[in-house]
Amino acid sequence: MHTLLASKYTKAVLFLLGLGPLASIVWPFWRGYTIPNPLEFIQHATGDWTLRFLLITLTISPLRKLFHVPELIRFRRMLGLFAFFYACLHFTTYLLFDKVFDLSEIWKDVYKRPFITVGFTAFVLLIPLAITSTAGWIRRLGGRRWQMLHRAIYFSAVCGVIHYYWQVKSAVIRPLTYGALVALLLGWRVMDWLVRRKQTVSPAKPAVQQASVQRLS
Ligand code: HEM
Repeated sequence: MHTLLASKYTKAVLFLLGLGPLASIVWPFWRGYTIPNPLEFIQHATGDWTLRFLLITLTISPLRKLFHVPELIRFRRMLGLFAFFYACLHFTTYLLFDKVFDLSEIWKDVYKRPFITVGFTAFVLLIPLAITSTAGWIRRLGGRRWQMLHRAIYFSAVCGVIHYYWQVKSAVIRPLTYGALVALLLGWRVMDWLVRRKQTVSPAKPAVQQASVQRLS
């Protein structure tokens, strides 16, 4: 298992798998199949896959720790970038086919339609994360600041779920399921943080040391 995850081929296979949703979107058009509402088809598929990749990215850390597979970290950046890639396609579909590059119409939408406002927020939050996803940026920002910045992925996922929930009329099961998964993943992080904090401030340590640890965290 560890050897497989450490292999360079696994990364290449994962990359090809990440392109699978794109192929499933392009395929019916390429084959000339009749699609009743092509714009809706693309918008829904790209929106769904953005959210799925965000969730998969957020699953990496819990899986690494729970199953003791540190090698999984190798795939996190790629998965996050796939989330951004599908978000770009999703936004581009809206920009090109829904609003035909009418920037004033887009601003009106962002301003007036809450589900667009929150979707736009989710998208904008991902931009700095994609830009600073390289090793060079981790060095430039420093590990701690980089980590702080990259916590924005949680807000993006929450905004993505709200964006989805606000636009559906009655089919709330899917957005609520995504919401429950995001809550579970965030809940795990809070628990993990609390456990680590408790371990750092163990009763065996002298009181002065405990106080300084508390101030730092
Ligand atoms: C991280 C960012 C985003 C995520 C995760 C996301 C996610 C989603 C999801 C899951 C859907 C519904 C798919 C379905 O019904 O199966 C959707 C639909 C949609 N999204 Fe987004 N979205 C994001 C950003 C945006 C942005 C920036 C815009 C435009 C400014 C936008 C506009 C739309 C529109 C117009 C629809 C279709 C609504 C309809 O059919 O009535 N989204 N999005």
